[in-house]
Amino acid sequence: MTSNQEKKTKDIIDKINYHNDLYYNKDKPEISDAEYDRLIAEFKKIQKNFPSLSDDDNPLMIIGGKSSDEFTKFNHPTRMLSLDNAMTKEDIENFIKKIIRFLSLKDINIPFSIEPKIDGLSVNLVYENGQLTVAATRGDGLNGEIITSNVSTIKEIPQKLKVKSPPKKLEIRGEIFITKKDFLDLNERSKNQFANPRNAAAGSLRQLDVKITASRPLKFIAHGFGIYDEGKKTYYDQMKEFKTWGIPISPYLKVANDIDDLLNNYNYINDKRSEIPYDIDGLVYKVNDTLYQSRLGTVGKTPRWAIAHKFASETAKTSIKKIDIQIGRTGSVTPVARLESINIGGVLVSNATLHNFEEIEKKDIREGDTVVIERAGDVIPHILNVVLDKNKKRSKLFKPPKNCPVCGSSIIIDPDEVVVRCSGTYICEAQIVGRLKHFVSRSALDIEGLGDKQINLFYNKKIIKNYGDIFKLEKNRIQIVNMEGWGELSFKNLVEAINDKRKIELSKFIYSIGIRFIGEKNAQIIAQAFKSTDIFTRFYNNDQDVKKDIFNILENTDGLGPKAIESFKEYSDYKDNRNQILSLIEEVNLVISSLKIVKSPITGKKIIFTGTLNSMSRAEAKSMAEKLGAKVVSSINKSTDILIAGEKSGSKLKKANELGIEIMNEESWRKLSLL
Ligand code: IVH
Repeated sequence: MTSNQEKKTKDIIDKINYHNDLYYNKDKPEISDAEYDRLIAEFKKIQKNFPSLSDDDNPLMIIGGKSSDEFTKFNHPTRMLSLDNAMTKEDIENFIKKIIRFLSLKDINIPFSIEPKIDGLSVNLVYENGQLTVAATRGDGLNGEIITSNVSTIKEIPQKLKVKSPPKKLEIRGEIFITKKDFLDLNERSKNQFANPRNAAAGSLRQLDVKITASRPLKFIAHGFGIYDEGKKTYYDQMKEFKTWGIPISPYLKVANDIDDLLNNYNYINDKRSEIPYDIDGLVYKVNDTLYQSRLGTVGKTPRWAIAHKFASETAKTSIKKIDIQIGRTGSVTPVARLESINIGGVLVSNATLHNFEEIEKKDIREGDTVVIERAGDVIPHILNVVLDKNKKRSKLFKPPKNCPVCGSSIIIDPDEVVVRCSGTYICEAQIVGRLKHFVSRSALDIEGLGDKQINLFYNKKIIKNYGDIFKLEKNRIQIVNMEGWGELSFKNLVEAINDKRKIELSKFIYSIGIRFIGEKNAQIIAQAFKSTDIFTRFYNNDQDVKKDIFNILENTDGLGPKAIESFKEYSDYKDNRNQILSLIEEVNLVISSLKIVKSPITGKKIIFTGTLNSMSRAEAKSMAEKLGAKVVSSINKSTDILIAGEKSGSKLKKANELGIEIMNEESWRKLSLL
């Protein structure tokens, strides 16, 4: 680079860093988006000419590629290692022997840390002076991709470390994953697009649209760190210290002092695997002493001081007695294989999931077939393959039923969906029971002591037929206390747990009802359309004016798709549903959260901010606008109602003028926001 070019490059980098800081950290941009984009384009040109430009000088490495339409490469400050696998006790013995030999130790019992090996995606989080500056995928261990903005949507990952004097630079490594339960819910919503939780986490994380990542239930657990000189003497103590800084670590992290201790823990966790909320495929053992770790060093990509002790997935042969159909809460029809019971690794298996009809066809699975079943510990056993016997006549191919085996309604096969569904949404008992289970489940009302088992029991005894019945359980006291496994005390506890949940926030109420396509986010959006619980009651009293108003609002609300609106409408058009809701409302104390929107001149309007506001930050302005009932949008088009132009407004102001959109200056906005 000539000195002139060098100066120009440095100037642009400084400029971008300055504007990044204003935009990302101070919420006070001074230039328009278009101007910023031009700067980035200029920088990219220079970057191409000078590939030697170090990552430390690269402003795109520091922030989450705001301008880029693809993920920027990131050079990990220290290599992200992978692990060798051990399958048997002998493998572990050899691993330890080598370490003892390498370090010339006399004592053969050296302490190891133990953690589950989470089946997710590893990330590198770079903290500079306690602030998260870069999050990157593992890539090949040397180079990953920057996913800072995506990772910043994960609540569990601190943006700032909770420590007075943070290290200048710290790399935290860990796993991003989705829990087994969240995976099932997500797949239900997203038409079974993901094969497993890992796949779902990967698909959710690597999204150019950060909003999609933000809507996914991603979790994080740290399992290591890059070079950190000021660190503690042991891995265990170091991780515990990170925990106090706000970094999530494994709740199963332990230290084992000898090989027996390691193996006992392995067996213990293997047995407990089904209770762990996320998929794990083994344990990771690490030499606990960090000085030993650095003496041991690495061989290629793997450290000498750590190993993954994998769990065996076990298989067994058996035959399919029958293929049954299960109907889920949203009518999904799932085929299940009823098996000749078989013991697989100490667990009696009599059912295997067949996922969907495509799977049956692909693997050509038929009733009466001999099949190989795999049980990978924590997941529902599934069929690996069919073992064909030429001498045996096979039954016919299993096809989806024409009618629901529970309610007789017709089955809908949507060519866009893998899942086939029962059309008897509100009459099908399987769906009714599914919705009742959802209503009391953890993510909904979360009634302790009222789970799937109790709902099945009370539904079969006709004690709970609809949501309202749950709150009228007292009526059935005599019947229940005399049932097997029940008594006065357990009944009293259950009634108390139910009474504890009588106060329900409107959005939670809407979500808990279990309407298809109305998840937590959509329920929140819908709840905002109701200005009072009285209006909500009138809506379910079938007041046509109220209904018209509400659907008018919903149709003009961003973020709510037509399918969700249609489903919400279909639900309220059905008289039985309305009656159920009305009787439920009588039993509970419905509240609208204090964040209630006030009526203002901008209620229901779409507004956009541009330029610099002197009197408040963008974040504050946005939250004020939302409190006044406006929707803040980020791109301008015909449907935008008002543009609030601060100083140095650029292309958006021009476009607003072209489109004839109302323009407000900061002074008028300030007056309005003080209303
Ligand atoms: S330690 C020595 N600990 O497994 C440093 N890795 O093949 C290597 N993983 O890429 C990582 N849980 O993504 C470590 N408790 C854990 C882990 C874990 C999952 C993943 C990680 C890594 C891969 C190793």
